[in-house]
Amino acid sequence: MEIPERHEHDVLVIGAGGAGLRAAIAAIEAGASVGLVGKSLLGKAHTVMAEGGMAAALGNNRPEDNWQVHFRDTMRGGKGLCDWRMARAHARESPDRVRELEAWGALFDRAEDGRMNQRPFGGHTYGRLAHVGDRTGLEMIRTLQDHAVHEGADVFMECTVFRLLVVDGRVAGALAYWRPTGEFVLFRARTVVLATGGLGKAWKVTSNSWECTGDGVALAYDAGAELMGMEFVQFHPTGMVWPPSVRGTLVTEGVRGEGGVLTNRDGERFMFRYVPEMFEGDYAESEEEADRWVEGDRVANRRPPELLTRDVVAKAIVAEVEAGRGSPHGGVFLNISEKRSPEYIKTKLPSMYHQFKELAGVDITTDAMEVGPTTHYAMGGVKVHPETAATRVPGLYAAGEVAAGLHGGNRLGGNSLSDLIVFGQRAGAAAAEEARDVSLTEIPAAELSAAVAGAMAPFARERGRNPFGLQEELQQIMQDKVGIARTEEALSEALEDVHRLRGALDSCSVDGGRAFNPGWHTWLDLRVMLTVAEAVVLSALERRESRGAHTRIDYPDADASLGRVNLVIRSSDGRMVTDAEPVSEPPAELRQLIEEGV
Ligand code: FUM
Repeated sequence: MEIPERHEHDVLVIGAGGAGLRAAIAAIEAGASVGLVGKSLLGKAHTVMAEGGMAAALGNNRPEDNWQVHFRDTMRGGKGLCDWRMARAHARESPDRVRELEAWGALFDRAEDGRMNQRPFGGHTYGRLAHVGDRTGLEMIRTLQDHAVHEGADVFMECTVFRLLVVDGRVAGALAYWRPTGEFVLFRARTVVLATGGLGKAWKVTSNSWECTGDGVALAYDAGAELMGMEFVQFHPTGMVWPPSVRGTLVTEGVRGEGGVLTNRDGERFMFRYVPEMFEGDYAESEEEADRWVEGDRVANRRPPELLTRDVVAKAIVAEVEAGRGSPHGGVFLNISEKRSPEYIKTKLPSMYHQFKELAGVDITTDAMEVGPTTHYAMGGVKVHPETAATRVPGLYAAGEVAAGLHGGNRLGGNSLSDLIVFGQRAGAAAAEEARDVSLTEIPAAELSAAVAGAMAPFARERGRNPFGLQEELQQIMQDKVGIARTEEALSEALEDVHRLRGALDSCSVDGGRAFNPGWHTWLDLRVMLTVAEAVVLSALERRESRGAHTRIDYPDADASLGRVNLVIRSSDGRMVTDAEPVSEPPAELRQLIEEGV
């Protein structure tokens, strides 16, 4: 098939969120021509939903903070599964990446001494999150987008990539369609960076927006890359639970970072009962002690237990609800009004103030919010080289949420925005460097025709299943059977369900033409989401232990005999298979740092 619209670049970046924009800037700085393709409008990336801040050991808040403490916090938060090389690079480089954003125009909140303010977040020893009220992701995207456009990125927005083109084992470009017109477009490139973000849209209750269907994970897998850690899906402890139309909408961890407390229906501040052994001593043991910390008394630095890591807080909330101590709509209460003045709340949490006022009719300066866990983030994704972000497919790189390794079994809040800028920069620079030695490749016409015919298949069928119904069914299955608490039985059922839906996908039909056709877009998204769902369920079945964000009711403890392994997924004879790979051990001095502290 002839595809009239064709573009050529040294580096093609797929995804225009924080990682994609930062990769594009780095590649341009290295002399490459860059095409930047985004599924959504430029500036509307899901990065904006990381509201509370970006973690970087600037040491503004506490001079004791440094990259070693940040490294240690990240490694401990990841429950033994982080790649130490990625965690070290992230902790070392994030301060420079944050200062660079400021130099490019980002307006961070200031402390009284005029330096960038840094707020506390779960699992971080010190207040470490550079922030802009509760709109940090938005400010980051605004800054990066201005800079990338200024530097000369060739932007293609509302353009969805549905196939990576691999010629002689090397990635050679991508095939996409324009969302408004449905016309196909061919991108040829010397190297490609995937920065497509997350996959939370496969669940019913999620903080993720419509774009987050896991495109990059499926594109990479189909191109021959490996996936890793797919069982680790983060359920953010605080999403809205009421009214039903906004269930899952994020309530930033910044509320707890600024002193918000969690209580159950009996008014009990229950998190004191859930401090895990490994964190004992780091957290306050009484309300008085926690309150003193919020008021600024940091002598012993024992944080309120609401600032435990997200896996711990989310599971505690579920336990309270299951014990019958939940709020009227199946969550718990989050209250900041008793700890902070209305002026303080409106200044530091302006989006939360408006969100609750407008969507739930709740004034958070006087009343408690009702909150519960919401699908938020994928720790797993495409397996990459820890330094260059290269996948095992020559010419293909991945950075940001689509990539695995940095966060292990659980990500600390605020580490995602810094991940995007650290590894976006690394991926863009490495892709540009490789592009210097590679020529553009002709894509065989037969490959293009096959890809286009596959994408058009549902138009050829009459009276098949409706893709919207199928998507809803998948989201309900993932919600009910692949949620926070998992069992062999439910996961096995989910696997059968996913295989059944895969069959049903081939009987779906789509009416109308290609222009402005959301039914067709949903069908194309479903192809991707089913690959993602299968990878998550298979890995969750295979990991017979509870660790970080992956909780197996039938295997409630971490399995010491299993050793610290990552589950890696690859395609073998058209089937998805998993292998366990030992986690690389850090050198002795870093091991000591993790075990004993700084
Ligand atoms: O709660 C939040 O503001 C989310 C931040 C993050 O996921 O890093």
